[in-house]
Amino acid sequence: MQNQANSLKKSQVIAVVSGKGGVGKTLLATNMAAVFAEIGKRTLLLDTDVGFTNSDIILGVYPKYSIKDFVNRKCAIEDLITKTEHGLDLISLGGDVSDLLMANDFIIKDFTTHFLKILENYDIVVMDMPPGFNESYMPFLALVDDFLVITTTEPTAVVNTYTMIKLLSLKGISGENIHLVANMVQDVKEATNLLERFAEVSERFLNTKVSSMTLIKEHPGVERSVRERVLFVKHYKSIQPSFSIRRIVSILVKEPVVAKDRKGLIERFVKLFRGDRL
Ligand SMILES: Nc1ncnc2c1ncn2[C@@H]1O[C@H](COP(=O)(O)OP(=O)(O)O)[C@@H](O)[C@H]1O
Ligand SMILES: [Mg+2]
Repeated sequence: MQNQANSLKKSQVIAVVSGKGGVGKTLLATNMAAVFAEIGKRTLLLDTDVGFTNSDIILGVYPKYSIKDFVNRKCAIEDLITKTEHGLDLISLGGDVSDLLMANDFIIKDFTTHFLKILENYDIVVMDMPPGFNESYMPFLALVDDFLVITTTEPTAVVNTYTMIKLLSLKGISGENIHLVANMVQDVKEATNLLERFAEVSERFLNTKVSSMTLIKEHPGVERSVRERVLFVKHYKSIQPSFSIRRIVSILVKEPVVAKDRKGLIERFVKLFRGDRL
């Protein structure tokens, strides 16, 4: 997707997409963005999804302005940015706004033109997209470097995912830029087989060889993090979903990512100092 917009921008734009809702897009996008920030990347999360979880709630922020204010020119695009305690910035277009966006191509074009200006302030932009594929999102999708396609192993989700990848490939997106993530996995062996078969089918029939595949297990810690309004990558660092999020980030930035655990490090240092065995 080489176009003028793309050649102007310096940041890496990652779109989190799925064939259907409720598969974990928002949780993944939000936790991933926090890991990008943790490894020192200037990170912006653009939440365009209205669904189960709201990224602003999980991040503990209350955006001051909405896209309606921007559309009515009551604020500048910069005013839509909310800083968070996690070192990442958020623009949330959620709430009743998605109808507005869906209905009006002009608004999307207007927003993306202004959005391009602020992209240069960030190394990484994570876009949490609404489920399914809509032609009106094309201005957003034209900015994307990497697509993270999230699915569950449920048959309808898998079929929708196949359609999603087919549409991406029809838009000329190469498999090199597509990463497949199976979320809420209960049986790892079964899910691994499914992903492998899926990859074979998309290579054979769509000529699209996905770049990577990652499994994320279903884990009570994830739901707990939603109830507690916290990020599981920060509060439950050692659960499997946190490892997988760090793995995805490391694939995307092409460098290793380890959990920042200062408490653990300090404890080990104290033990070392006292001559204890580690
Ligand atoms: N790995 C997981 N383990 C357990 N529950 C999960 C996991 N991923 C997602 N969920 C559950 O699914 C719900 C929907 O996730 P969400 O990110 O809002 O989906 P989407 O944005 O795709 O609509 C969450 O509130 C959470 O309860
Ligand atoms: Mg969502």
